Amino acid sequence: MKVALLGYGNVGGGAYDIICEMKGGLAVKRILARSIRPGMEAVMTTDFKDILNDQEIDIVAETIGGLHPAYEYVTEALKAKKHVVSANKQLICRYYSELMALAGENGVQLRFTSSAGGGVPWLFNLIRAKRCDEITEISGIMNGTTNFILYSMTEKGLPFGAALSEAQRLGYAEADPSADIDGNDAQRKCAISASVAFEGAVAEDSVDVFGIRHITDKDIRAFKKMGRVCKLMVKVKKHKDGISAYVEPALLPLSAPESSVTMNFNMTTLVGKNIGRLSLMGQGAGKYPTGSSLVQDMLDIKCNAIGPWAPKKAIRADNSLERHSYYLRTSAITAELRQLGQMVNGEYIITEPLTVSEMHAMAKRLQKSDPDMFFAGIE
Ligand code: HSE
Repeated sequence: MKVALLGYGNVGGGAYDIICEMKGGLAVKRILARSIRPGMEAVMTTDFKDILNDQEIDIVAETIGGLHPAYEYVTEALKAKKHVVSANKQLICRYYSELMALAGENGVQLRFTSSAGGGVPWLFNLIRAKRCDEITEISGIMNGTTNFILYSMTEKGLPFGAALSEAQRLGYAEADPSADIDGNDAQRKCAISASVAFEGAVAEDSVDVFGIRHITDKDIRAFKKMGRVCKLMVKVKKHKDGISAYVEPALLPLSAPESSVTMNFNMTTLVGKNIGRLSLMGQGAGKYPTGSSLVQDMLDIKCNAIGPWAPKKAIRADNSLERHSYYLRTSAITAELRQLGQMVNGEYIITEPLTVSEMHAMAKRLQKSDPDMFFAGIE
């Protein structure tokens, strides 16, 4: 099959090298780039129409990221009856229903395994599990940058800023790392995973999110005393009356499998009624891991493997359905806050169980008087 790559950055470049090395099955006919690289004049173009109008191109691989012009390119490609693979979590999350419907109408596939989990074949296996199972829970570490920061702070004693700079230098972080450290990158991966698992389109803004921007060395020391490890966790659960879906720092016991996930690794877990708990661990970001996941999607198109289903309904997460205790550190302690649980060393409160929506709403209120406040779930 003939492939066109949109973008020749980290992921696009990785996919290109892998396809060239494979020698067979797939061939890159065109690459859309901002400028033509010397020596690549025959394959590179700066005009998307060269790809769109090329009848020989079967698969368009979108790796430019962001919403626009990625959205326009992907919709045009699907309408031209070209299969699309994409690593773009922002695009897939925002336009999931529309793009899946468009792919269906045009009899082509839209695959996006690399958009959540990077090199981990998470979404592929979630889809596969669903064939004969009912998914009841999804969870995991789905952001490599924040795992690298938390690992470096916990195991190496690095301050937050130094750990973030190192993650940027290693190419794990987004162009604007706010999406990593504020949890929005994981929020999108959470919404995509939940959409696949529950055959609906889960609204990104219904997934409550709190990141690790304000975690301090003092917090890390307190977690160590508690015998716990802090990880930025994606959590999705099926309840009788809907689903809960949120992203927040969580304090895990040392025995939890996620506690030993080091560096920028991801670990994703599904719970199915038949299969039970199933976890996958691997590189959640990076040129070749993500590039290889993108190429796997192309090969799955080639062999017409099972793909994601068009969503049947719009879903909003309801986080009043889930509750647990929290670690809450804020300088704005009030009598009302003291009643939430037990104050420890005058430094933080361990709350009685609160609903996830209560805690996230309270954090938004507290941030007005204490922008540096921090909380983490204790499950
Ligand atoms: N910035 C993302 C991460 C890249 O750190 O996980 C992969 O999606």
